[in-house]
Amino acid sequence: MTDVTKQAAAKASLKYVREGMILGLGSGSTMYYVLEEFGSLVKSGFHIKGVPTSQRTAGWAEEFGIPLVELKRHTAVDLAIDGANQVSNDFHLLKGGGGSLVREKIVDASANELVILVDESKCVSHLHGALLPVEVLPFGWEKTAVIIEKLGYEPALRYKDNSPFISDNGNYILDCGFNIIDNPQKTHLQLKEITGVVDTGLFIGMADRIIIGKEEGTVEEKQ
Ligand code: A5P
Repeated sequence: MTDVTKQAAAKASLKYVREGMILGLGSGSTMYYVLEEFGSLVKSGFHIKGVPTSQRTAGWAEEFGIPLVELKRHTAVDLAIDGANQVSNDFHLLKGGGGSLVREKIVDASANELVILVDESKCVSHLHGALLPVEVLPFGWEKTAVIIEKLGYEPALRYKDNSPFISDNGNYILDCGFNIIDNPQKTHLQLKEITGVVDTGLFIGMADRIIIGKEEGTVEEKQ
């Protein structure tokens, strides 16, 4: 995505934000522009609060003066706004490029409505040609990877600055190569069943609305 498509999608998401809402704040670079917009809303006297899905997002929210709340039993998240790495025709999502998939899934699933911001390059008929991030416990991760391999995927440990990438939850990410995911639900359940797997970057049937930012600065919306 380019800055133009990210900004266009971010601006378009604002029309779904209402006074007093508790907002799920997704992760990824597109969310920077969303938080910038939310910051302007707060400065103009709008009352919103956010539930961040990563430490990075929490940092940006603080930078833009957006009040944050913890996700507790009775926290009613009205609307979550998030990015994605791919969106299929039937609105299944592939997420986790930034390594925040578990917290994103918890917050996005608890929201009343989930709006996803992408560009055209991320919209595909079936999920394919990308890596599927799977968060795993560091303990025995190589054994977990072998089981994933036997299922036909090609797992590779994610690295950052020459060391294994550590998620906000203290876990590792295996980026799994695959050809095409015909049945995302089946794939997700198959992987999720493995002891050592915390969760996958497949978000099944969770998105309510997709906002697609375009290079001309316009957007297309699907729901
Ligand atoms: C974070 O873990 C991801 O799920 C992001 O939401 C996704 O990678 C989209 O990121 P960008 O907005 O940077 O494209």
